[in-house]
Amino acid sequence: MGLSFNLGTPINTALFLYILYSVQRIIFPPISKPKTIPHEFKSGYSWMPKSHPPTVLYKIYTPKTLEPFNGRDGGRILLAINGIVFDVSSGRNFYGPNGMYGNFAGRDASRGMAKQSFDLDMLTPVDQPLDKLEDLRQDEIDNMKGWIEHFSNKYIICGKLVENDAI
Ligand code: HEM
Repeated sequence: MGLSFNLGTPINTALFLYILYSVQRIIFPPISKPKTIPHEFKSGYSWMPKSHPPTVLYKIYTPKTLEPFNGRDGGRILLAINGIVFDVSSGRNFYGPNGMYGNFAGRDASRGMAKQSFDLDMLTPVDQPLDKLEDLRQDEIDNMKGWIEHFSNKYIICGKLVENDAI
């Protein structure tokens, strides 16, 4: 007899039918359309996150509208250097409430960056006109530009800082 395949045997018939069915499923995979839009991963590929992830919008800030982004509420942390607003939230260890550079959070950090100082007197009160930086020496300006370079490579630029009465 040797190795012969007898389709007449019930078990072989059953296996053969099962193979046909499996091959058919591979060639024509069932596409089931969900009745409702899925909100979380269940199985397969048809899933969406619960909500859209937060997006970063380029915005115009003033000293007063920038100030709330100081991270003290656990939220986003922004700071400005020479009018450029950076989202430094990923540097919470630096700029968070307990961070070494926490003073800069939510503020115009230009002067401090230029003079390499995080002293409080580097900051302009938020209800006053923007720091024009006119008294800075060239090497201090260059130092500030170096920090802008560093921040540009590390953080997202998310806005521009203008005078309180400009918008
Ligand atoms: C006591 C002296 C200081 C020490 C020991 C110190 C130490 C450090 C260290 C360890 C880092 C982290 C570098 C990294 O991981 O990329 C850093 C970054 C930094 N430091 Fe200082 N620093 C000092 C003074 C200052 C001062 C006076 C300023 C004022 C502008 C300053 C501004 C910064 C900034 C802006 C960063 C970059 C943080 C970032 O990438 O978001 N540091 N410093």
